[in-house]
Amino acid sequence: MSDLFLTGISQLTTNAGPAIANAVVAVEDGVIIYAGAAADAPDQAGKRMECDGRSVIPGFVDAHTHLVFAGDRSDEFARRLAGESYASIAESGGGILATVSATRAASEDQLFGLVSGRVWRMIRSGTTTVEIKSGYGLDLETELRLLRVARRVGAELPVTVRTTFLGAHSVPPENMNDRSGYIDLLVNEMLPAAAALADYCDVFVEDGAFDVDEARRIFGAAATFGLPARVHAEQLSHSGGASLAAEIGAVSADHLDHATEEDAASLALAGVAAVLVPGASYSLRSAQAPGPMLAEAGCTIALATDCNPGTSYFESMAPIISLAVVQMGLTVEQAMQAATQGGAHSLGIHDRGVIAPGMKADLVVIEAPTAAHIAYRPGSNLVIQTIKDGVPVG
Ligand code: NIG
Ligand code: FE
Repeated sequence: MSDLFLTGISQLTTNAGPAIANAVVAVEDGVIIYAGAAADAPDQAGKRMECDGRSVIPGFVDAHTHLVFAGDRSDEFARRLAGESYASIAESGGGILATVSATRAASEDQLFGLVSGRVWRMIRSGTTTVEIKSGYGLDLETELRLLRVARRVGAELPVTVRTTFLGAHSVPPENMNDRSGYIDLLVNEMLPAAAALADYCDVFVEDGAFDVDEARRIFGAAATFGLPARVHAEQLSHSGGASLAAEIGAVSADHLDHATEEDAASLALAGVAAVLVPGASYSLRSAQAPGPMLAEAGCTIALATDCNPGTSYFESMAPIISLAVVQMGLTVEQAMQAATQGGAHSLGIHDRGVIAPGMKADLVVIEAPTAAHIAYRPGSNLVIQTIKDGVPVG
């Protein structure tokens, strides 16, 4: 007997083969026990959910977010629309450091309230697994606070959370004239303490943030604490982050707007996933990452919101999929796979992102006859039911 039996599915996107028409899915103890044509399904008793001609897809895996922040930067959005650049706004006291000062001033409970609101909106938009970075604390105490908040989200909300320590997001204001002092602090004090609360370590490799040699040192220290690397690479310029990711065997290289064919070949060879965030390129009105070229080179492609208050204030994966298709040039099938299975693989998670027997029942029911409507109608939340571990949530 199944705990949940979804019937009347017009199109089932499984990521295990072609989409299946007139399908059903049966779930027991949070795990899929049957997914396929209704005609071949074994008899099922238990709780039925009639999908009535709607489609079903795997839950979204949002593999790159900066969700723990306080404050408001809508003024910067207005300044960018008036022609100022992201870099010049950051140099004049805005940017990451503006969010750092608002976030340092927020209590752990205040931050948890803000992040829970964001994550509930994500869940209602079909996200069932999310990676959450720190990076708006930039001192020991605040970075640990952000990681605790992220872990608490995973413990209290129906979503799987993976946490990433991004103490190397920017040099904090108190170290502006002593950047090597901040890197010493990162390596000697912050990383050892953060390692208990983080699954990964990230460094923003970019002019104005950290260079390749600094990042290599930070990732080397992270490895001694068992934290694999995710790298902010080639976002605003070509700075060498992608070849560093390949050299150190990072699990992912993220952004990649300025990645070259050589970068793509090295990432593919080293098995580094390419986590692409088209919402950031859209918001900054900059060129999209070369998604089709990275896919052609053999990289695992993941899509993510990059949700943050500066460059990509997207909480939902649906518009990200639409941007990936319309602006980046991925096919709908590639984008759907990247937003589900690709994200899971980039996080080293292999029990979801595919709808097949034995996989976790993280599913989304879409108010549309096919999954292509997600890319085609980005202005509507077509998610009518998110199912986490076989339980309807939201
Ligand atoms: O992924 N690139 C660095 N970090 C964020 C932006 C952070 C911010 O502007 O607050 C990003 O785009
Ligand atoms: Fe980012």
